[in-house]
Amino acid sequence: MKAKILPPTARSINQLAEALRRDELVGMPTETVYGLAGNARSPVALAQIFETKERPTFDPLIIHVQIPHINRPTDPLSDNSLDEIESLKALDLVELNALSAEKIQELQILIRNFWPGPLTLVLPKTPSVPDLATSGLPSVAIRMPQHPVALALIEAAQTPLAAPSANRFGRISPTTAEAVKQELGDRISWILDGGPSKIGVESTILGLTPGQEWVVLRPGGTPLEKIEAALGTQIQKMAPSSPLEPKAEPELSTETRPMAPGMLESHYAPRTPLILLPREVHALTPQDLESIRATLDKLPRSPAPSNAAVGLLLVGGDSQAGSNSFSAQVKRPVRCRTLSAQGDLNEAAQRLFSEMRYLDSLELPVIFTEPCLKQEGLGFAISDRLRRASALRHR
Ligand code: TXA
Ligand code: MG
Repeated sequence: MKAKILPPTARSINQLAEALRRDELVGMPTETVYGLAGNARSPVALAQIFETKERPTFDPLIIHVQIPHINRPTDPLSDNSLDEIESLKALDLVELNALSAEKIQELQILIRNFWPGPLTLVLPKTPSVPDLATSGLPSVAIRMPQHPVALALIEAAQTPLAAPSANRFGRISPTTAEAVKQELGDRISWILDGGPSKIGVESTILGLTPGQEWVVLRPGGTPLEKIEAALGTQIQKMAPSSPLEPKAEPELSTETRPMAPGMLESHYAPRTPLILLPREVHALTPQDLESIRATLDKLPRSPAPSNAAVGLLLVGGDSQAGSNSFSAQVKRPVRCRTLSAQGDLNEAAQRLFSEMRYLDSLELPVIFTEPCLKQEGLGFAISDRLRRASALRHR
């Protein structure tokens, strides 16, 4: 393991800003998940991000920016109403001329309400954005993170930072410096420790359709209802809305479909096969149990004796009760973890990836997970991640 975990002191931030300017990569804390950061203006650094993550180059990156004037109280005497937009323009990443006056106004509302924070905006790009960052698309994904260490690093590096989640492609996103080390420790030199990520799921990604309507490309840390309330309109969703229809095709016109490269079905996945239960444990039907037993019978991981424990991940509720009830149903020992005993969705999101990582580390033959039935707040993002983690069942 060559990666060094550094504390977030001014000294290490300056040292790593230097490294970024030399096109090296840095594991960077953000409020959502840890990112693998590189200079967004350098094709050399961008190429290294793809190589390090083993990420296909058709999956574009999110560029992390730091813009001043945000959330500054409006001075009634001066017209600073477009300050954020001016600052964004100065970065020369977004082609603002391609947006209607109405969209610019909405963009400003979004920035004022949700930046810094877990909202990524996909907007028309300027020629100065390297093609590698956008996988050749005419749009660029950008966000201003909220984590003070991320902001300090961007500021010190004096360049926007491209940062996908700091995991190997398709794997569970890391929410601690230690998890970054597990994922990429043999491939990068530096990880900046900013503590456990507070939100725990990636940013919500909002893009524009060719007709310039906002559309959610990925549910995430900013609840959809909050965005709708800020804009005063309903927003189209890319992802299936119900966890009970895991294979449902996204409700999308073919027009908007190519906008979301990288929304691959299998993602955020543990190595252990993860199976999304059709219902919560207490509500499983005899047919459900029959198919669970059939699954257990053909488990690929051997040896998996009939008394081997299986994993169970609960979104809410008591893990002991869940474990007892599931164990009686499947007639096997159960290693159960709950994301939030109180059923708090924020807590559940915050712990989602670290609990998946923990259950994965037990090397059980299989992990079952309850669906997240609540779709409000972070529930939409949690159910999306559980569905994607379970999309590829056997590896
Ligand atoms: O919270 C986050 O967003 C984290 C932290 C590190 O900031 N980052 C993150 O990056 O989740 P990543 O690389 O794992 O997700 C990038 C996704 C792509 O897979 C794609 O779905 C979308 O962003 N994306 C990027 N550029 C796009 C574009 N031009 N058009 C459509 N989608 C785009
Ligand atoms: Mg990712």
